[in-house]
Amino acid sequence: MENERAQWGSKLGFILAAAGSAVGLGNIWKFPGRAFEGGGGCFLLIYLLIVIFLGAPMMLTELSVGRASQANIVGVFHKLGHRNFSWVGWIGVIGAFIITCYYAHVGGWVLRYVVGYATESSSIYSDSLGYFYNMLGLHGDGTTSIPWVAILFAAIFMAMNAIIIIRGVESGIEKFNKIGMPALFILLLILLVRSVTLDGAAEGLQYMVSLDWSKVNFSTFLAALGQAFYSLSIGMAIMITYGSYLPKTENIAKNTVLICAMDTMVAFLAGFIIVPAVFATLGESEIGKGGGFAFVSLAKVFDQMPGGTFFGVLFYLLLLFAALTSCISLVESIVAFLTEHFLWERTRTTIIVCVIMFLIGCLYTCTQAAVPLKGIWFDAANGVTYPAFCDFMEYLTDRIMIPVCALGCCIFVGWVWKPESAIEEIEQCGVRFGLAKVYAILIKYVAPVAILAILIMSFAAGMTLS
Ligand code: TRP
Repeated sequence: MENERAQWGSKLGFILAAAGSAVGLGNIWKFPGRAFEGGGGCFLLIYLLIVIFLGAPMMLTELSVGRASQANIVGVFHKLGHRNFSWVGWIGVIGAFIITCYYAHVGGWVLRYVVGYATESSSIYSDSLGYFYNMLGLHGDGTTSIPWVAILFAAIFMAMNAIIIIRGVESGIEKFNKIGMPALFILLLILLVRSVTLDGAAEGLQYMVSLDWSKVNFSTFLAALGQAFYSLSIGMAIMITYGSYLPKTENIAKNTVLICAMDTMVAFLAGFIIVPAVFATLGESEIGKGGGFAFVSLAKVFDQMPGGTFFGVLFYLLLLFAALTSCISLVESIVAFLTEHFLWERTRTTIIVCVIMFLIGCLYTCTQAAVPLKGIWFDAANGVTYPAFCDFMEYLTDRIMIPVCALGCCIFVGWVWKPESAIEEIEQCGVRFGLAKVYAILIKYVAPVAILAILIMSFAAGMTLS
């Protein structure tokens, strides 16, 4: 089976693929909204600490487990001789599955905006909030309808994924990343300048750098934790799959630092572009409507810059590719697992899985406005609540499955497989791992305790449901 799996063509190929997996909608679409809800500056600080002390060690752990075992998410635990930990892998697969369902739909929205900016940018400029709601089936007069256009674009996005996965990820995606990633970065810098110089942006900028601890509670920590893990593509065992394709000569510690740094930089840039733009465009009263941050508020930025429509198309194109490389990593690890575990055929598996995920994802797009389907949630402070189904899908993955899967991973490495084995694997490249002692302590004590505490406290103390 091994020869059916992708193999990184080059050193750069892996870094780019892993960075491509990490940098995605999470950074640009989710992060600014979370940062806003979490109180701006405080959230950024908490987020940064979580990336350094929990995210980076977790990524290193997943990569080393993957490379040591050369197996898929569930197979890993069998191979290393600890079948009783396979549940960690199962949560990873199921979580990745749920994420992909909605991820592909948001990818579809992005595609819609590429076409939207190219063909009808003036209607986006004239009523950016209305345009966004309209796409999701909520019309100006308060009526709703099934958002067929968004669904159609989601289907196209999912089909693009399936085609790339079937063809193999190496050449196309790796090559694109080489140009796409730096281009995205430069474009973000340009947008940053435009956004913070908009009329009324100063207040938003202020918000992002001020420390208002009154908005911070355990829910903020959980949100930051879920967001950090989501953004870094960890806690779903995806880096295990990617690590398993790596040669032993690769320095995974160095790569971890690089990937985390790139990912966090893009997220912060997006935050500093979008939040000030939101303050400048929607104003205080509309600010709670966070979902459309990356779609709605940027219209003003593009509207008020020379060549704005061109930059609009370019921005959503780059976001589209960032979303594609992330979505591919999700689908790839599900497909890798299914083909290896059940010995299913790759092409057929990919098609069937993608169709099912697309269909479930329709619930996500439809419950934004058109269909009043609810999920169910519980915490001690609010009791039982019924968030919209689309939010429910995100809570399920970000707030339960990712932290639980990550917890399983670090208990496994910290206490069963032992940090020494991970360190040995990290040092396979021939370079001594200088932070080995710190790493062992983090993964054995700090990470599990922190993740567990944050998980429990958030359910006990309650969280703000949007
Ligand atoms: N990290 C990606 C983003 O920021 C999304 C993603 C890809 C992901 N693979 C993942 C999230 C694995 C969690 C787990 O958009």
